[in-house]
Amino acid sequence: MTDESAGVDADQEAGAADAEAVAAPNPPVRRVGDWDAARLRDLAEQHGTPLYVTDLDRVAENCTRFRAAFPDADVRYAVKAHTGRAVLDAVRDAGFGAECASAGEVRRALDAGFPGDRVDYTAVNPPARDLDGFVDWWRDDPGLTVTVGAADTLDRLAERGYDGRVCVRVNPGVGAGHHEKVRTGAAAKFGVPVDRVDDVVAAARADFEFVGVHAHAGSGIHGADDLAAHREFVSRVGDIARDAAGDADGDGLEYVNVGGGFGVPYRDADAPLDLAAVAAATRDALGDVDADLAVEPGRYLVADAAVLLTAVNTVKPAGADADEVVAGVDAGMTTLLRPAMYDAHHPIRSLAADAADRDAAPTTVAGPICESGDVFCEGRPLPAAERGDLLTVGNAGAYGYEMASTYNSRPRPAEVSLDGEPLRRREPLADLTRLEVTPEDR
Ligand code: LLP
Repeated sequence: MTDESAGVDADQEAGAADAEAVAAPNPPVRRVGDWDAARLRDLAEQHGTPLYVTDLDRVAENCTRFRAAFPDADVRYAVKAHTGRAVLDAVRDAGFGAECASAGEVRRALDAGFPGDRVDYTAVNPPARDLDGFVDWWRDDPGLTVTVGAADTLDRLAERGYDGRVCVRVNPGVGAGHHEKVRTGAAAKFGVPVDRVDDVVAAARADFEFVGVHAHAGSGIHGADDLAAHREFVSRVGDIARDAAGDADGDGLEYVNVGGGFGVPYRDADAPLDLAAVAAATRDALGDVDADLAVEPGRYLVADAAVLLTAVNTVKPAGADADEVVAGVDAGMTTLLRPAMYDAHHPIRSLAADAADRDAAPTTVAGPICESGDVFCEGRPLPAAERGDLLTVGNAGAYGYEMASTYNSRPRPAEVSLDGEPLRRREPLADLTRLEVTPEDR
């Protein structure tokens, strides 16, 4: 923790306890208070705000820690968490594969050099265009795998001449996760219902190379209750996998994929995920399935590897409490959607040089979008904001830039590495109308 971060956010206090861990070579978590304030101020000065700053070394560290907890697993990064090329490169260098949610993600993973036999396409209600693209690329890269969640996806693949690797996604009927909107395990939308799995596996065996069983409980699994739910989930997937392997006439399964969902502590008071305990619970609950274990971490590898920098442009009193203020900033729900969409907590730290000397004021940090949901926090104690202050929003690396939009005709932000390398240019205003067909074009 640097001086500036002292007293910034009530739940940052607990972060001080981590100061020692930060000095360790690969701490289990990096808090918003651990980032070098002077460095972040420099980057904001050079590149403007809003700005994502991504520490690629931290991505590599997260991969190393994950590998240590799951030494034998086949790890496939859920690229949807952050698909930036530099991040893909870092994860690929760590030796992990890629789990992709669309043909677009498959293309980007292949372009980033992930070998085809380490790339999975998880086909959720796949649009025809996605299947067309995937089957085309499979002709050059027969190692690609598609994970299907419905019997008719198999028919649609066969119609396109596909007879390659198929994994069957099952709906185990139990889910977990940080918010109702990301609990997938029991949602009818995802996977084949348990009572239909035998038929779909038989169809997959008949016309394709059937390689595995897949399920994903949900995202942001973190607390003790979640660990119990995870056990229950994995054990059900294990039972389903044993059944599926039993049909195999001795062929067995190549792998059982229990998805992603490994949580990170968004509140500084939260302890980091005990990854070793999760790994032990996973192996234990899976039992004696004769197949490799595959896992698909997204958030865990990238969340604490990036922060969002945003500048305060407006300060005004708010509410009945005389101290309470609204700090208007230049980032909003179009830059980082998670608070608006999931009521997600992100730690916020003032980078004002004298932040430690200022009184704390209950602060609502609000963006420039015309929606009342466009707030990063409400009434949070932060050093009294002043116009021109720079704020850091922590844990912004997962589902941050990825979920950015151009709503309100607000171009997407820039992203730089902590070393100052540009990773994504700030979107020019002109790009917002690039695809538009105007009367002059007609
Ligand atoms: N595997 C599958 C099949 C998935 O659908 C997902 C995430 C993952 C792996 C990776 O989950 P993770 O390890 O990152 O939790 N936008 C939301 C999260 C949506 C996750 C969707 N699927 C958020 O910002 O919290």
